[in-house]
Parts: sequence; C-alpha cells; structure tokens
Amino acid sequence: MSKVSEIASTFFAYLKRPDLYPELRRKIWKNIFNRSSGLRGKEEAEQWCKSIAISEKHFIEKVLNTTFIPFEKLFPQEFAGALQAQAKAPVKMGGAGSLSVIYYINEYANAQKSIETGVAYGWSSFAALASLVHRNGMLYSSDMPYILQNQSEDFVGCVIPEKYRSNWDLYRFADKESLPKIFEKASSFDVVHYDSDKTYDGRMWAYKLLWSKLRKGGVFMSDDVGDNAAFKDYCEQNNHQPHIIEFDGKFAGVIIKE
Ligand SMILES: C[S@@+](CC[C@H](N)C(=O)[O-])C[C@H]1O[C@@H](n2cnc3c(N)ncnc32)[C@H](O)[C@@H]1O
Repeated sequence: MSKVSEIASTFFAYLKRPDLYPELRRKIWKNIFNRSSGLRGKEEAEQWCKSIAISEKHFIEKVLNTTFIPFEKLFPQEFAGALQAQAKAPVKMGGAGSLSVIYYINEYANAQKSIETGVAYGWSSFAALASLVHRNGMLYSSDMPYILQNQSEDFVGCVIPEKYRSNWDLYRFADKESLPKIFEKASSFDVVHYDSDKTYDGRMWAYKLLWSKLRKGGVFMSDDVGDNAAFKDYCEQNNHQPHIIEFDGKFAGVIIKE
C-alpha cells in the first residue's frame, strides 16, 4: 500500500467510527504540527536504559524479593491454550512484553484493581489476570482498535483464558476517552501497566494521570521505554527511582510508588 492510499484508508476507516473521531482529530493535528513526538530523545533514552538495565530474573528476585519461575511454567496449560488462540487469529497485532514481570508485580502489590493501556491479543492482560483472579480482583483495560484491520476488534484479548474474563473490563476507545470512563468505575489502582500510545507526548499525558491514580506502595510499569525519552524525563522531573528491565532486546520501566 502506498503512503497516500494508506493515509486515505486510515481516514475512511476512522470516518466509519464516530466513537474514535476525537482520536482522528488528534492524529490530524499531530501529523501536521508534531510529527517528531514518537522518537524524541531515542538515542539518549536507549543509552540510559542500557546503562542501568537488569534482567527480569534479577528484578523479580532482588527487587520484588520472590522466587522467579517463568510465567509460562507457572501456567503451562493456560499458556498453551493462549498460543493456540493467537495462532488461529487471522489478524496481526502488537506483541507481548515480559509476562513474568507483569504477573509478579501484581503479586507483589497484592493487586485487587489493576489498569492497563494497550491490549492487542491480550498477553499482558492474561498475565495480570492470572494473579488478580486469586483475589477476585479486576483488570481495567483501554485499547483502541487497529483501525485498518476490519476483524481485529473480534480478536482483541483473544489469548485471555475464558475463566478469567469475568474479572476483565475492556474499554474500546483511545486512552483519552477510555481512561475517564474507567476512572468512573475505579479511582485508585494497585498496578498500572502502560503499553498503548508510544509517542513522547502521549506517554507524558498518560504517565502523569495514571501515576496520580496509583496507590502508595503500588507498582507502575511502562513498556518500550527506550523508544523515546518520555519515561526517562518523567522520572527525572519527578525524582522517581526507576528499575529498567531488559527483555527480548527491549526495555520496560518500573517504579514502585513510595
Ligand atoms: C503493543 S500493543 C499492546 C500489547 C499488549 N499490552 C500485550 O502485552 O500483549 C498496543 C495496543 O495499544 C493500542 N493503542 C495504540 N494507541 C492507543 C491509544 N491512543 N489509546 C488506546 N489504545 C491504543 C493498539 O491498538 C494496540 O492494540
């Protein structure tokens, strides 16, 4: 697909979805006035991440003080079912980060209420819910559909085991619309996991808001923090001491709220 026809297809796909018009307006504005937000400060962010990164095992054992058993070994049957569900999905969506870190931060925080942005197949949701269901907790998720793939909405969260679904509340809008709706249901969270709009400005807007809803002692996680300098700048501006975890050649950032 050429760039022009991709832009035209995206535009017409948005026109069919009035609930996503606010996001369409923001995208047009961003493409005209603020195109560099995705990669702003990428080089310095990557260097910073590399200089302080630890492994997921190190983080789980030394920071969370718990024995590390990889997520897929803790839940082998559910994991095999999830792989099958993903293989059957006819659409390609964004991939998962460290499922073990997501599971163990929910365990660490004894989470009853967690919030995540960005679902796609639902790997991160699966990992959070595997912990939450033991306390009959709830996961609130925000996910804007992949606008160019007609069927993708039917497969958002497709890897989440059926038995976890009554503990899952999904909002299918852009974060700027989903988050206020979620906050009408719950105003404080034990865990935040950010994995949606990866632009510098999108992160800065959401980090500040989500941080304010995280309880003391709760855990804040953001994926792909080496993509631009938003997470680094956010930590420096607010004097947060983050843990940077390297996984699959990418970096996740975690802050435990003092
Ligand atoms: C990387 S995927 C999420 C992967 C998932 N967290 C996992 O670990 O399996 C990113 C998702 O965020 C969604 N997304 C992108 N921008 C968004 C926005 N502004 N608001 C809500 N969702 C958004 C995408 O449509 C996609 O489904």
